Amino acid sequence: MKTEVLRLSPDHPEEDAIARAAEVLRRGGLVAFPTETVYGLGASALNATACGRIFEAKGRPANNPLIVHIASAEDALQVAAAWPEPAARLAERFWPGPLTLVLPRRDIVPDVVTAGGPTVALRVPAHPVALALLHAAGVPVAAPSANRSSRLSPTRAEHVLRDLEGHIDLVLDGGPTPGGLESTVLDLSRTPPCLLRPGLVTPAQIESVLGPIARAGPIPGERQGALPSPGMLTRHYAPRTPLECTEEGWQRVEELVWAGLRVGWLTRGQDRNLPGAMVIVMPQDPKDYAAQLYAVLHQLDDSGVDRIVVDLPPETEERLSVRARLRSASAK
Ligand code: TXA
Ligand code: MG
Repeated sequence: MKTEVLRLSPDHPEEDAIARAAEVLRRGGLVAFPTETVYGLGASALNATACGRIFEAKGRPANNPLIVHIASAEDALQVAAAWPEPAARLAERFWPGPLTLVLPRRDIVPDVVTAGGPTVALRVPAHPVALALLHAAGVPVAAPSANRSSRLSPTRAEHVLRDLEGHIDLVLDGGPTPGGLESTVLDLSRTPPCLLRPGLVTPAQIESVLGPIARAGPIPGERQGALPSPGMLTRHYAPRTPLECTEEGWQRVEELVWAGLRVGWLTRGQDRNLPGAMVIVMPQDPKDYAAQLYAVLHQLDDSGVDRIVVDLPPETEERLSVRARLRSASAK
């Protein structure tokens, strides 16, 4: 299959490109598109065959359900069986935006989307291209991140093509995605609501609306107790290059370089100079750090280093999402 690429303006997406992509979706095709978090790989959420093709293209295990994207909260009841008051309050505050809500599903949603489970995950993305596409398609759109399963999520169209060229119909290239990290996933089908995947909306922001919420299991990679969202089970969000998290930072980098490896080092500390080491000084601000993380990991993958060493940022709730991704990425 030839993958078509259409460039469009991220702020004022051209109507002909959007119309073309909507047509591909309605006919059962796969379209990658930018959201405010990462690029998604979309198919009509009500078309089981099309959604099945998402799993094939990504090499995604069938037990990992998909997020359904809708144009506005008013469309929630097309796929969810209930729209409880906490959902309405969260949607009012955070949609369009990087918060995914897990609710009881309607039967109209194919099993392939929900992995046969009783719930469906929903969000309204805050990106002009994604919203224009959802409006034009007129159907809910199931979309996981547009990468091969377990790999780094794409924050640019080039990343999508590297993993999926020849396996999908169309990529809408709207430039780099601003958020850089996936949405927060919150399960509203349980009481109290439970954080399944930390993301760009923090637990404190959710609790300011709902009151106390539960947090699923340990941070992935720590391997004790119940596991959170199916997508966080194993090695995930991982660059091709082996990645390790450390507290000892520079010492570890020196050790690996002396052993003959080329090393990429992500630190929030000072720049250093050592032949064989590629030092990347990351932003101090948690949001800026999150926005850059995948882009930097993609860059290190391209540079051909043998190992990536990351100084794990401090354990604060604002950094929960980044720490969870890094731990998954370093899992064996
Ligand atoms: O920011 C995002 O969320 C991006 C953009 C494209 O929207 N999408 C994304 O999708 O990250 P994906 O498939 O890579 O991750 C979806 C996560 C997985 O961890 C999956 O297990 C979980 O959401 N999930 C989906 N449906 C669920 C459900 N019904 N119950 C529990 N977890 C669910
Ligand atoms: Mg993903």
